[in-house]
Amino acid sequence: MAGQQGIESAADTIKRIFADSASPLGAEIADAGSRYRALHDATFPKPERTRRIAVANQKGGVGKTTTTVNIAAALAQHGAQVLVIDMDPQGNASTALGVPHASGAPSVYDVLEGRMTIAEVMRPCPDFDGLKVVPASIDLSGAELEVADMPNRTDLLRRALDAYLDEHDADYVLIDCPPSLGLLVINAMCAVTEMLIPIQAEYYALEGLGQLIHTIGLVQEHYNPSLIVSTMLVTMFDRRTLLSREVFEEVRNHYPNIVLGTTIPRTVKISEAPSFNQSVVSYDAHGMGAISYGEAALEIARRSPMVLKAIESRRGEH
Ligand SMILES: Nc1ncnc2c1ncn2[C@@H]1O[C@H](COP(=O)(O)OP(=O)(O)OP(=O)(O)O)[C@@H](O)[C@H]1O
Ligand SMILES: [Mg+2]
Repeated sequence: MAGQQGIESAADTIKRIFADSASPLGAEIADAGSRYRALHDATFPKPERTRRIAVANQKGGVGKTTTTVNIAAALAQHGAQVLVIDMDPQGNASTALGVPHASGAPSVYDVLEGRMTIAEVMRPCPDFDGLKVVPASIDLSGAELEVADMPNRTDLLRRALDAYLDEHDADYVLIDCPPSLGLLVINAMCAVTEMLIPIQAEYYALEGLGQLIHTIGLVQEHYNPSLIVSTMLVTMFDRRTLLSREVFEEVRNHYPNIVLGTTIPRTVKISEAPSFNQSVVSYDAHGMGAISYGEAALEIARRSPMVLKAIESRRGEH
């Protein structure tokens, strides 16, 4: 045993070689090794009640789907029961989680129109135990018009989700929203108690955020008084640029208690993963993309008591 104690792990070797070097790549490799181990050893606390979270931003391409998929994957990897609901007719979250979603296949469209239950349409994600997916297909693009005249049109998803959660356990429900503020997104906002807003680290990052917050305010006022914006996550962050750091600082100044300390870097692996029908958490588990999403998921899990309390006190006010 004495001899074995002298053997250092591969990660330690890399750290010893690179940690003090001037090479940014070397330092990054060393950093990734120790962060991966810390994450691997961490306990992800489970929330006392199901956390129902809509991932929304009407701005396109800011990382909603990537965030939904990878936070869900990281939470499931660390033992949580997670349900992802794809509310985007593009079906990108279904693709990234390896769940079939061809036109005509059972999907969230059937749930919204009352033909099937969530339990009937959901599929297991092949890569993670405990991760289930309600897929979306292109058929969903018609739903917005088809449900527009229904009397309970804003409440279709909430009813289906309430019925599901009456019978099934889930620690987290994550809903991936399309880039709009239409009826599908309103349904998502009514079905949850929390909003997670991904913010891309770019020049126009905060533009449009006012409109989103305003819409959330209207939903709170008219339909769902206990809804809170619990979380913001800065995505596609490039720590070498001043702009990325400025965006992060600005978001943090505006929303100090909401924005996560973890940021998601821009990496090629994150953008490649969906074409292999995978999350980056399974596709490149040791890379910076997976590590960062893992750290963001841990932060989300650790904030559960605080967030659930905030929801409870809003509920008490109404
Ligand atoms: N951290 C990242 N690094 C590199 N590429 C990323 C990262 N996050 C997202 N992307 C890529 O950026 C594009 C947009 O991301 P994503 O689909 O998650 O955004 P979205 O907000 O869901 O888009 P939409 O509004 O169309 O639904 C995708 O091609 C995705 O692979
Ligand atoms: Mg998307």
